[in-house]
This record gives sequence, C-alpha cells and structure tokens, in this order.
Amino acid sequence: MNYTVMMPAAGSGTRMGAGHNKLFLELEGQTILAHTLSVFERDPWCEGIILAVKESERSKIEQIIKRAQITKVKSLPEGGTERQHSVAACLAAHKTRGIVLVHDAARPFIAQHVIHKLADSAYEFGAAVAGVKVKDTMKYVKDGIIEETADRERLWVIQTPQAFRYELLEQASRNAERAGFLGTDEAMLVEHDGKEVRIVESTYDNIKMTTPEDLAYGGYLLKKRLE
Ligand code: C5P
Repeated sequence: MNYTVMMPAAGSGTRMGAGHNKLFLELEGQTILAHTLSVFERDPWCEGIILAVKESERSKIEQIIKRAQITKVKSLPEGGTERQHSVAACLAAHKTRGIVLVHDAARPFIAQHVIHKLADSAYEFGAAVAGVKVKDTMKYVKDGIIEETADRERLWVIQTPQAFRYELLEQASRNAERAGFLGTDEAMLVEHDGKEVRIVESTYDNIKMTTPEDLAYGGYLLKKRLE
C-alpha cells in the first residue's frame, strides 16, 4: 500500500549533548537525517515526504536534501515546541486522504519489510505501530521502592513508524489539541479517541539516536550493513 511519510525533524536533541540538532551528526560520512530520508527515497511505496523543520535550520536541511539527492520531499512545514506539534504541522501541510506514516528522523535503521507491513495494516485496520517485545524484567517503582512487577508477556517497546489512515490521525490530532492532551507518540492520540491500534513486530536495531552510546551502536550497524 502506497503512503506518505511525515517526519518530525525539529527537535533540539539535548540528550545527545551535541550542541546542535543531533540529526546533523554524521555516520559513515552522511548525516543521520540523510540516512533516514534515503530509506524512504529508496522505497517504491513511498509517494512523498513531509519534513517538519525548525525555521533556523531550514536552509541547512535543504542543503542536506539536495546533497543526498532526495527527490520525494513535498514540503517543509515549520515544527513546533513539542514533537506532537511538529506532527500536527505535517498533517496541516498534507491534507490528502490515504495512508500516512509518522517516522522519527532520528531512526535511520528502519527495515523496509516493517514499513510495508505497517502501511498494509493501517490500510486494513486504521492504525498500526512498530514495536518489539521487552527483553528485560519491568517494574513499577515509586520513591525508590518497587511497587509491582509488570507482566512482561504483555509489554512492548513502541517505536516509529506509526501508520494511520490520514483522516483517523488528523481527527485524533485535532481532538488532542482541543483537549490539551499531550501524547508521547501518535498512537496515544488515537487511543485517546477510543480507537484500536495494532502492533506490527519490528526489529531491535530500529533504534532512535538519542544519547552518545546510540551513535557508537549506529556506526556499528551501518558498517555491518555496508559489508
Ligand atoms: O527528542 P526525540 O528523540 O524524542 O525526538 C524524536 C523526533 O521528533 C526527532 O526526529 C526530532 O527531531 C523530532 N522532534 C520534532 N519537534 C519537536 C521535538 C522533536 O520534530 N518539538
């Protein structure tokens, strides 16, 4: 199923501590942003990319797009103070029915077979997100004391892409805005609307480049793929 991808790229990346947008950091001679964009440039199902950017970084991002020979970027709306606002800006810039994927620009290792499963699943069911089963034991802790051990069999780590029928996400995004509800991912907005969201099993290497350790692991993953 063909889709458009909305990519929030307007964060500040303070946890990376790079002193600038972490998406400009390089892995094997290319920025993280260029690596992520290239995944979708290469995917024949991807019809377009909408990238939310900070106004002050617009020209630098345009240069990156040009240098990496990315042709599918349709628009570069201005992002917001929260990730959710950046995604809302992408939705406002798109307005076309069909399947939309939301994908963090900071996740360059997403596999094409997962993207395709998500797009098909969103077409069939309305909403689907990428995730992996937790590997560790998980516990609720309050004031340094364990309250409860969670049932690991039911716990998943949620990633992006998150895929939706456009009108379903657009409605959820508008409702969240009206209610002042802030989610940490798009699925939360759709859940908040009382709609079902499916899980598509993803891969553990679909990491979000967040802290300096991720850069080291990301470099290793990329080298392995290029071998
Ligand atoms: O900060 P974090 O890694 O959770 O951000 C995930 C993605 O959301 C990144 O690609 C980042 O650029 C983007 N983002 C955004 N607007 C914000 C915050 C984050 O587009 N206000």
